[in-house]
Amino acid sequence: MLHPVVLSGGSGTRLWPLSRHNQPKQFLSLLGDRSLFQETLLRASRLPDAQPPVTVCADDHRFMVGEQLHGIGLASGGIILEPVARNTAPAIALAALHVVDRDSDAMMLVMPADHLIEDEASFRSAVERAWAPADEGWLVTFGITPDYAETGYGYIRRGGELVTGAYRVSRFVEKPDAATAERYVAEGSYAWNSGMFLFRASRYLEELGRHAPAILAAVQKAYAGKMSDLDFTRLPKDEFLASPSDSIDYAVMEKTERAAVVPVSCGWSDIGSWSSLWAVAERDGDGNLNQGDVISVDSTGNLVRAADRRMIATLGVDDLVIVDTADATLVARKDRVQDVKKIVDRLKSEG
Ligand code: GDD
Ligand code: MG
Repeated sequence: MLHPVVLSGGSGTRLWPLSRHNQPKQFLSLLGDRSLFQETLLRASRLPDAQPPVTVCADDHRFMVGEQLHGIGLASGGIILEPVARNTAPAIALAALHVVDRDSDAMMLVMPADHLIEDEASFRSAVERAWAPADEGWLVTFGITPDYAETGYGYIRRGGELVTGAYRVSRFVEKPDAATAERYVAEGSYAWNSGMFLFRASRYLEELGRHAPAILAAVQKAYAGKMSDLDFTRLPKDEFLASPSDSIDYAVMEKTERAAVVPVSCGWSDIGSWSSLWAVAERDGDGNLNQGDVISVDSTGNLVRAADRRMIATLGVDDLVIVDTADATLVARKDRVQDVKKIVDRLKSEG
């Protein structure tokens, strides 16, 4: 059976001032009424034969997660609360142990909570194509055709075909430097790793044990001491903290011999920054994405988001990002918003 697992532990600092520690980007309504997390849960629930989705998130976010699940009226497959963040390899291991407890044959679809998928039918058919190789024990990733040399993604080199539409991964490189990323994009045989995975839960645990035994051991120990509280699963902090902090990409995908890739073109985007939100959203005739009470005169290519009960007006400015909230306002050139992180770092260091 298919068990969707939604990873919801990130913070999304580049969407400051809207995203904050207690309000990370996956819980925000960036486009439309629902949050990216809610859209992800709904997308999961619409997959054929999907079991209720499992969420893995920070303990601090339990109320928000509970509320947002409730808000869309979905049954939950459980909410696993991490006492501290140890990155995705341990988070996915917790989910694997949780679903294996319920279904020893469980197939897991790992879905980051903060992605946008415009073409759901193509996404569904990619999951179907991934099923046969995952059933045979492959760890299947979904590959996106790269359109620029992004250094924040994993790159997958396609090897021989396993079954129609699924290929062996001949190389997986997580977050290469800029020169390497440019070479990969120019070569044409690389795809971006979308960060979604399909595999048997038991196979993931085996591969984790082979390539990152310290993570598996710590997570197993923490999971053995779990406490269940309604829908929530809590873990003892010290045991979970003992796990090395690493991502599935570095800990498993770069190392395993059994990685496969299913290329997919589904209007995927990882809304990592304000400019990527602007790029995927519907804009007015002047290329502006105006959210809330905004007036623009002779202004083009801007993203302007007004706070509640306050209007923003722009005159004669182009390619800016202006985001207003109750206690902070960002004004930035659109081509500089990757560096919003620098503001957050400065705020943190100044306490
Ligand atoms: N529960 C939990 N716990 N979730 C986590 C944790 C954690 O400790 N850390 C990250 N996540 C969640 C994030 O919320 C996000 O949904 C997903 O896991 C991936 O984490 P990111 O931190 O966003 O990873 P990334 O963007 O740097 O890289 C990954 O995604 C890229 C595509 O967006 C990698 O898989 C890359 O290879 C990939 O290209
Ligand atoms: Mg990400």
